[in-house]
Amino acid sequence: MESSALPVEDELPANRRWNIVGDSAALRHVLDQVEIVAPTDATVVLLGETGTGKELVARAIHEASERRHRRFIKVNCAAIPSGLLESELFGHERGAFTGAIAQRIGRFELGHGGTLFLDEVGELPLELQPKLLRVLQEHEFERVGGTRTINVDIRLIAATNRDLPGMVEAGRFRDDLYYRLNVFPIAIPPLRDRPDDVDALVDHFVGEYASRMNRHVDVITRDTREVLRSYPWPGNVRELQNVIQRAVILSPGGRLILPPLPVSPPPRPAPDEPNTLEGMQRALVTRVLEETNGVIGGPNGAAVRLGLKRTTLQSMIKRFGLSLPHEAAESEIHSHGRCRRLGREHEESWALA
Ligand SMILES: Nc1ncnc2c1ncn2[C@@H]1O[C@H](COP(=O)(O)OP(=O)(O)OP(=O)(O)O)[C@@H](O)[C@H]1O
Ligand SMILES: [Mg+2]
Repeated sequence: MESSALPVEDELPANRRWNIVGDSAALRHVLDQVEIVAPTDATVVLLGETGTGKELVARAIHEASERRHRRFIKVNCAAIPSGLLESELFGHERGAFTGAIAQRIGRFELGHGGTLFLDEVGELPLELQPKLLRVLQEHEFERVGGTRTINVDIRLIAATNRDLPGMVEAGRFRDDLYYRLNVFPIAIPPLRDRPDDVDALVDHFVGEYASRMNRHVDVITRDTREVLRSYPWPGNVRELQNVIQRAVILSPGGRLILPPLPVSPPPRPAPDEPNTLEGMQRALVTRVLEETNGVIGGPNGAAVRLGLKRTTLQSMIKRFGLSLPHEAAESEIHSHGRCRRLGREHEESWALA
């Protein structure tokens, strides 16, 4: 058979599909796993630090599956108060609880035939875990306050940056659910462990933001590249994206000018240090703030991760004399909105390409 000179979509390199940028061996391994698991209906659990691209990979799995023409529904377990999560997921009947003035269809029913992305699954309250296990195993559930059993066909992709085995050991996550979710785990490595992706990501985001802001940035010096490659990126690709956005704003000429990067986080204490309660708290708060890039509030913020009220965390930060990367909280919220819009544009331009 004669081969065509024009590449068909399946012949494009895996990392050109789904807007996932980077060509490191570690990222290629992730994309290979996406290709393998996507066409099956297996449950996938995505493991990785904040900002590594878990949601992007979840969408890629959906896009590469037979379910791509059906819905991709996302539920962030950390963003919904635990009392409302059951109704959000499974729906409720009218009068099921005070305030349930009408029947409500939950996300599982809405996503019938498609994919449900359960983000921050480690935050799922213990009492809801058996119900999730039942949907995964028996494909059935009842709405809150209802008696009729509803059958659904849904593919579940879960994500977490928590240590699920540790949570199982501590009795905060059911072991049967953990094993059921862990059918096909995919670990997305932090950006500092795949510096080979940094150049491509920088070029990608410079191109995107320059065209959005009508700027022409075509010079990135070797020193700038070196600074970007060697920075440890505690907030991973999301942090890099924010830094590039700021850099493009700061670069009216042709050369990319970087904003000051936060001072490298202090090395983590040795395992046998510190040995006071206060020292441990300080180390934990420092580490979580590093991981959230200094963001305190919001569903992915340090307060939620530490199980503290925002104001309690703020007074601890003050008491421990910790400093935050400047403007962290603000730029995070700001760039979230922009990321989303950017993501949609990607999809549109990809569809046109
Ligand atoms: N390889 C990549 N190529 C292009 N963009 C990426 C890549 N990885 C991540 N991003 C972008 O970085 C941002 C963060 O990615 P994403 O939301 O998927 O991370 P996450 O792991 O779900 O983070 P969190 O745990 O904080 O929810 C998004 O704007 C995403 O589009
Ligand atoms: Mg996410």
